[in-house]
Amino acid sequence: MQGNRIANAGLANRIMDADAAASLISNGMTIGMSGFTGSGYPKAVPVALAKRIEAAHAAGERFRCRVWTGASTGPELDGALARADGIEFRLPYNSDPIARDKINRGEMEYFDMHLSQVAPMAWQGFLGPLDVAVVEVAGIRADGSLIPSSSVGNNKTWLDRAQGVILEVNRWQNQALEGMHDIYYGTALPPHRVPIPLVRPDDRIGDTHFRCDPDKIIAIVETDAPDRNLPFAAPDAAANAIAGHLIEFFRHEVAKGRLPASLLPLQSGVGNIANAVLSGLVTGPFENMTSYTEVIQDGMLDLLDSGKLRMASATAFSLSPEAATRLNADMSRYRDKMILRPQEISNHPELIRRLGCLAMNGLIEADIYGNVNSTHVMGSRIQNGIGGSGDFARNAYVSIFVTPSTAKGGKISAIVPQASHVDHISQDVQVLVTEQGLADLRGLSPKQRAALIIEKCAHPDYRPALADYYRRAREGSYGQQSPSLPGEALSWHQRFIETGSMLHHC
Ligand code: COA
Repeated sequence: MQGNRIANAGLANRIMDADAAASLISNGMTIGMSGFTGSGYPKAVPVALAKRIEAAHAAGERFRCRVWTGASTGPELDGALARADGIEFRLPYNSDPIARDKINRGEMEYFDMHLSQVAPMAWQGFLGPLDVAVVEVAGIRADGSLIPSSSVGNNKTWLDRAQGVILEVNRWQNQALEGMHDIYYGTALPPHRVPIPLVRPDDRIGDTHFRCDPDKIIAIVETDAPDRNLPFAAPDAAANAIAGHLIEFFRHEVAKGRLPASLLPLQSGVGNIANAVLSGLVTGPFENMTSYTEVIQDGMLDLLDSGKLRMASATAFSLSPEAATRLNADMSRYRDKMILRPQEISNHPELIRRLGCLAMNGLIEADIYGNVNSTHVMGSRIQNGIGGSGDFARNAYVSIFVTPSTAKGGKISAIVPQASHVDHISQDVQVLVTEQGLADLRGLSPKQRAALIIEKCAHPDYRPALADYYRRAREGSYGQQSPSLPGEALSWHQRFIETGSMLHHC
């Protein structure tokens, strides 16, 4: 890709290589990095910083930083820094396997928070000062404003809050991205908050560029490297069955007059299952749909191409390499149908509630009462993080969770007597879907929910044991609102930890 990406002549003297830029970061600093689900993250400075950290550690010096991001990034950022043991503390969402391993071994502190709250909490100040922002952009304009790249995340906040700013200007990012973004500058801390003037998913309420004080820019590094762009698993039979149940549910709600024929703005979570559901909607009966979501993944692109989705609002792309190529080849056309916003706006509870999003998120496990664990395997080991699922689930018009009924080749039941960790309380879980069926839990008491979840969602290999547990719980429970046997409720997890399978229960 050609063209002058750094149009502001006054900044020419700040251009340097990644090693020189990384040398401006020192031990103990807090760094606000761009990046959201593998897109728009800096790709050169973190690698150079990791090299510096490794050299310092080899020389017996301490060198660890606090890292704030939008959400997950790529191997050149979280992977490289975690491998170098350079991250002391990290927030928010992470899906990097090396960083995950460090967290689960107790070698990295991880603050897993709602994605909508990162920017406001950074402004509140209790997270401490932000020393440096390292932000990937698609270009710098003559007036010094910045063209955002393939994710917006928390970049506006990092650029505003950081003492110093390091920019990576990435030529790989399509210049036709310019104009797609909507950067809202109207947020404030209480008591100065005012309503956010967005009433339709396609409303534009901000600027197309980031503002940045040129005096704060301490380095500019030119790069030419692709986003992480991991492939999605092709939808399997379970994913297709889940999509089928969900489309049937939507059809039923439209027939009952509880949803409009074009549905309501769709939110679709990260992961393979959520992506498969979107692909399923391509062949569904709904037209003129919109989405107000966090990431635009392959399934969303398919829906746009099919003409069934009118527009998509998000904070980032999360695409397979093939879909990224498709997007880049036709960016100017897609630009009119897409809006990328700061994550405090894409995930804002006020807006999600106002728009009435239909939230669809994945999970690790749900219990018979419909409490959902999205984050911790066996109650203690982090998988990724809560991401935006809490922002959407609590505020959605209908909050739906989707999952295969088993994990790890059938050795784990996704429906358990009691969730080993709870991210979403039963009130925030209104519809639960597995390949086995769909449980519409709205308006039901805990006991009514349990009967339905066991019948509709559990895998046949686990259903009799769940029914047996629930029957005995009703007989022997301390109370009858949400019957439970505390001594047994987590025994399925203990069995898995001890034997490698939840099966073989009595
Ligand atoms: N016990 C142990 N591991 C489990 C599990 C369970 N009950 N359920 C899922 N997993 C594992 C899978 O085995 C898989 O591991 P692998 O990569 O080692 O094979 C991994 O979790 C992903 O599971 P998969 O079935 O492929 O589903 P997914 O890609 O849809 O991801 C979540 C599911 C829960 C991990 C994912 O949705 C997530 O991180 N959610 C939290 C954040 C969120 O919801 N964000 C959306 C807001 S916009």
